[in-house]
Amino acid sequence: MLEINSIKELRAVIRSERSKGKKIGFVPTMGYFHGGHLTLMREAKQHADIVVVSIFINPTQFGPGEDLDKYPRDLERDRRLAIGAGVDILFVPSEAEMYPGGYVTYVEVTGITDVLCGKSRPGHFRGVATVVAKLLNIVSPDVALFGKKDWQQLVVIKKMVSDLNMDVEIAGISTVREADGLAMSSRNKYLAPGEREAALVLSKSLRLAHDMVGYGETDPARLAASLEKIIGAEKLVKLEYLDVCDPDSLAPVDKIETDTLIAVAAWVGSTRLIDNTIVRPHLENSGGLV
Ligand code: PAJ
Repeated sequence: MLEINSIKELRAVIRSERSKGKKIGFVPTMGYFHGGHLTLMREAKQHADIVVVSIFINPTQFGPGEDLDKYPRDLERDRRLAIGAGVDILFVPSEAEMYPGGYVTYVEVTGITDVLCGKSRPGHFRGVATVVAKLLNIVSPDVALFGKKDWQQLVVIKKMVSDLNMDVEIAGISTVREADGLAMSSRNKYLAPGEREAALVLSKSLRLAHDMVGYGETDPARLAASLEKIIGAEKLVKLEYLDVCDPDSLAPVDKIETDTLIAVAAWVGSTRLIDNTIVRPHLENSGGLV
């Protein structure tokens, strides 16, 4: 595996691979790898000849008072895991490399960034869209992979790529979970044992959504109320939002009659976690999360 810090050097290596007819797959990350990241990397290998993974804890997507300074990092461990996942190039730029002095350009995707996480994290998706646009320009991959765990992020990036005519395929990968259902996240590291247990109520509530829709529930308000009730019963968990909405427009739905996104964000102690699932009326049977 090649490790590269400079944009210029990365471009030269990618240009050379592309001239040999190699297809480039790209997985942007903020590091501190878990099974979700590794699944994206292995999946990238299925789509492309050369897999590029970036590690960059992007300051512009963190708000004041958020966890930028304490965001977990372990480059040594990430290197080993990336090698194990078959990554060809690990791109680890510095902040000065990505945002040199005098930097003033931002990408803003409007509307769909005002709801869900965008409501409580103003400016977050502006930072995400900006850094992903920059990374896509730097790497110029044929395909870039993102997790459905961050559903809104995936929707925002797809819209940006389409609106800005960027020549890249965006692939969404199913959420990878721990055996007990907790969605994998670098932020799970923050959870104390009791909080880790309490956090399970999020995936549990999403399973309940599948069950209810499977039994014919079509009313989003009734569904949301039932889920909020079980989350509310967990003392260590404070719900931020639970929304029932269209998976593409992210607008609330009046009735659950087609694929519908159930998205949840909650604070478990001082850790903010998100999770989501897509419920499919008429197709529900086993209550599995997708
Ligand atoms: P990060 O949180 O490191 O996530 C990197 C990628 O892994 C994202 O596409 C995310 O959706 C995906 N991912 C995280 N947890 C997952 C899980 N449990 N299952 C499947 N995929 C999962 O998301 C970011 O970084 C940043 O916002 C970034 C896109 C890199 C821009 O800075």
